[in-house]
Amino acid sequence: MVECPRSEEELQKREAIGVIRASRFVRKFARSHKGISIETIKEIHREIFKDAWPDIAGKYRTENLEITDSSHVPPHHSKINDLMNEREVELQKKLQALDKAEGIIRGKNVSMAKVHQTVERVIHLAAWLHYSITCVHPFRDGNGRTARLAANLILERYGLIGISIKVEKENKNRYRQALAQIDHADDYKPLVSLIYEGLKERYDGVAVKQYGAKQSS
Ligand SMILES: Nc1ncnc2c1ncn2[C@@H]1O[C@H](COP(=O)(O)OP(=O)(O)OP(=O)(O)O)[C@@H](O)[C@H]1O
Ligand SMILES: [Mg+2]
Repeated sequence: MVECPRSEEELQKREAIGVIRASRFVRKFARSHKGISIETIKEIHREIFKDAWPDIAGKYRTENLEITDSSHVPPHHSKINDLMNEREVELQKKLQALDKAEGIIRGKNVSMAKVHQTVERVIHLAAWLHYSITCVHPFRDGNGRTARLAANLILERYGLIGISIKVEKENKNRYRQALAQIDHADDYKPLVSLIYEGLKERYDGVAVKQYGAKQSS
């Protein structure tokens, strides 16, 4: 039995550790050959909240809620199961359509045009999964964190690196507007751009490191 957190500070700490634990789970799962499904999304949520808030960890919400600073109203809680089952069918189709993607992205004798086109398809799937979660908002809390980690699971499964979309302070509005743009116009471009930027930031770091290593040898 997990003891309930006694203070707000303790709760925050447990949630922060939960996110680290969930990121590790994502990394390990991405490297495995296990199939990604909506159940995996629930597992990510469970990893985040199992110490901080065990009652909601990995479970769909049983109440209706609003999203702070957003006009998007998440669906009635009684619809979540069906909606997530629909997403599951779509997800499996999209994953199947990408079954050669990892080989192409990691492959040695593949044209850059083909790699680029495949990376783009992977990023679109990551954005779609991200938004599917935040739109339905299936959990009582932690939908954003779960969605961002689920997007990383897609990126990492196909040989890319997990990113950190900036959602705090001055970056908060841009992230929220990117989601609102999908709500209103089914336009994924702003969210896809955020993912590209996150990747660029990570890969630039990697490239600089490798270049440095080469120079010193
Ligand atoms: N217009 C919108 N449409 C869909 N989803 C949205 C919209 N605005 C915000 N969201 C999502 O809702 C999340 C907030 O919901 P929730 O509190 O359940 O997640 P969280 O993980 O606790 O929050 P945070 O992302 O701030 O850590 C935001 O992070 C974002 O991902
Ligand atoms: Mg929250």
